[in-house]
Amino acid sequence: MPIPYGRQSLDDRDVQAVVDTLRGDWLTQGPAVAEFEQAFAVACDVPYAVAFSSGTAGLHAAAFAAGAGPGDELLTSALTFAASANCGAYLGAKPTFADIERDTWNVSGRTVAAALTERTRVVVPVHFAGLPAPVAEIRAAVGPDVAIVEDAAHAAGAWTPDGPVGACRHAEMAVFSFHPVKPITTAEGGMVTTRDATLRDRLAAFRSHGLSPTAELEDEPWLRRQHVLGFNYRLTDVQSALGRSQLRRLDAFVERRNAIARRYREALADVDALELAPAAPHGSRHGYHLFVVRHREGAPARRRLYDRLRERGILCQVHYVPVYRHPWYAETFGYEPGLCPEAERYYEGCLSLPCFPTLTDDDQETVIEAVRDLV
Ligand SMILES: Cc1ncc(COP(=O)(O)O)c(C=O)c1O
Repeated sequence: MPIPYGRQSLDDRDVQAVVDTLRGDWLTQGPAVAEFEQAFAVACDVPYAVAFSSGTAGLHAAAFAAGAGPGDELLTSALTFAASANCGAYLGAKPTFADIERDTWNVSGRTVAAALTERTRVVVPVHFAGLPAPVAEIRAAVGPDVAIVEDAAHAAGAWTPDGPVGACRHAEMAVFSFHPVKPITTAEGGMVTTRDATLRDRLAAFRSHGLSPTAELEDEPWLRRQHVLGFNYRLTDVQSALGRSQLRRLDAFVERRNAIARRYREALADVDALELAPAAPHGSRHGYHLFVVRHREGAPARRRLYDRLRERGILCQVHYVPVYRHPWYAETFGYEPGLCPEAERYYEGCLSLPCFPTLTDDDQETVIEAVRDLV
């Protein structure tokens, strides 16, 4: 069996939760959604959580709720999945990019400040690979008038001395993804957390066509009125039941990912050609959605390693090409290579090794031996 870089970890409890929901009265918009939202909010130590049909839908809604629109810029990390930037473009705002720091692979107050302009309306720091980005420092750099939406797609279960990622101590909102390779899964799904009841209401309306949550006119008690243009971005009850069940094991999943990362560190510490993923600082917990190594010899050596590992059934991946280098970004906004040199240097050498809770010790040893042998 090939060893993937990531995969879901499901057990009989998850299957039972889904089956019970299928046998119940609600397939969608029933009680399971609210239960999952409440449990997720508790896990993040935050008052409100709003479930979405994907992390991408959550980012779209969060950028909308933050007020991004034509003439604005939405500033995110160059090193991320395109969805972190696309959410601005959906609303007519221009996605712009901050470079990463060489030692954390995350944006910082310094790199965000360097890319900030008068038009920046929303900043989307990404907790890349599950390592919390310095949101307090970014808040200090952007001031109180720019909204911060954390892209926490990789970071459910990670924390900092300020609390869990998603607590929104320094940000307006945080967005999570429940795609199968993510810390917990609902197949497709996402969640947005916030401390602000007005933002919660805007998120909920955007998720469901822009409709008010309840009837507003006494004469027409059946009528939920549309006040903004929304979408159908709802998470189903079936998915929410799966998410609620998975959430019970989030802590164990993240612990296991940390144990896998520790083993990689011990076993690859003396491989000089590889730079290993930055660790979390004291008092923080890394989510290790990914365990990335960077080949110091650059693109050709990384390509050889990628190919040879695949020949041995080890399916590593590359996360990510700097977003502005996608053809659509170059064609639409005129971005050229060289915009964010650290993200490009990183991209030349990066490779994500298998890291997921059900990776067996034996399979991890197979990966370690292969990497040591090939590098
Ligand atoms: C950093 C980041 N943001 C956003 C997303 C989008 O999440 P989803 O796949 O749930 O739409 C992903 C998914 O891979 C991601 O990695």
